[in-house]
Amino acid sequence: MTDDSPIPLARPVMGAAEEAAVLEVLRSRRLSLGPRVPEFEAAFAGWLGAGHASAVSSGTAGLHLALRAVGVSDGDEVVTSPFSFVASANVIVYERARPVFADIDPVTLNLDPHAAAAALTDRTSALLPVHIFGYPADLPAFERLGRPIVEDACEALGAVHSDGTRVGARGHPAVFGFYANKQLTTGEGGMVTLGDPALKERIDSERNQGRAPDMDWLDHDRLGFNYRLSDLACGLGLAQLARLDDMLASRVRVADAYRAALANIEGLDLPCADAGGNRRGWFVFVVQLPRGVDREATVRTLAARGIQSKPYLPAIHLMSFYRERFGHREGEFPVCEDVAARSLALPFFPELSDAEVERVAGALRGALESA
Ligand SMILES: Cc1ncc(COP(=O)(O)O)c(C=O)c1O
Repeated sequence: MTDDSPIPLARPVMGAAEEAAVLEVLRSRRLSLGPRVPEFEAAFAGWLGAGHASAVSSGTAGLHLALRAVGVSDGDEVVTSPFSFVASANVIVYERARPVFADIDPVTLNLDPHAAAAALTDRTSALLPVHIFGYPADLPAFERLGRPIVEDACEALGAVHSDGTRVGARGHPAVFGFYANKQLTTGEGGMVTLGDPALKERIDSERNQGRAPDMDWLDHDRLGFNYRLSDLACGLGLAQLARLDDMLASRVRVADAYRAALANIEGLDLPCADAGGNRRGWFVFVVQLPRGVDREATVRTLAARGIQSKPYLPAIHLMSFYRERFGHREGEFPVCEDVAARSLALPFFPELSDAEVERVAGALRGALESA
């Protein structure tokens, strides 16, 4: 008998502490704009080693506000990675600026600093590197390019740069996401970390309809949005933060187990190992299938064994909206396109057991051998 019980792609860790934290907020009747928001911000900034933090309703909302905060506006260009979740490019379009894609590094899968340098023009008002799959982007190289930076750290909680600073603690606005598959979740939510208190003030105002902290309700001195995170979500976030170190350690264990179980499969590329003192904050375990393998058939074979998997991620410039709006086509970013065509996310979450990892690895090995 084979075990075909379902193994999902992701599953958040939730326990009595989270239930108690949410209940406490419910019972307090302070569901929004209450004390949990600054508490969560301070605790998150403290854990990360960042100067300041602003809680927002999603990673996307945080990226939007961070771009506005560094001054991106109409007609500007922002150099970014085509190998990311679509939100990191969409937020540039929100501000009527142009996402200028540059190819990625074939090992780290992050925006290649040389390609980014070659894409700069007089109109480049910011760089938006993405720490994809939690691997630290080469921030020192981007900093040398001398433009404002917004970091998409939505997938990178727990990642550490080679100099020992955590991703998100270098002072540039950096944005984390708390969707349910993330290292820390509030259901939906996000956090902008940053060093400049003036930028925090602007972000805090714009997330709250353009209201300054000392203003009356319904008084607004700038354009704003409703990008607030509720006290319920912040209470949940505080409970998650208390167990974050354990959850990150469990993710490292699962990644190590996958690495051992998937060793020596001809043509299969695993996530790059940590190098040069950089440390990945494990978010997903994405493999690149051997060239020529039918990825959809592999997904179906795994699904027949109860194992969820997903092509992850598609190249942004080849999505229909980006093709139509900006005229993109195949062949522009060959490294990204090759990786996007082969990448497959496997089940990955802290409570995945070694036996489940073995099951996934065995099923993938079997699928590839019969391909
Ligand atoms: C790289 C990246 N950027 C941005 C986002 C957007 O975050 P959210 O879904 O919280 O808006 C995500 C989340 O999936 C992401 O993975």
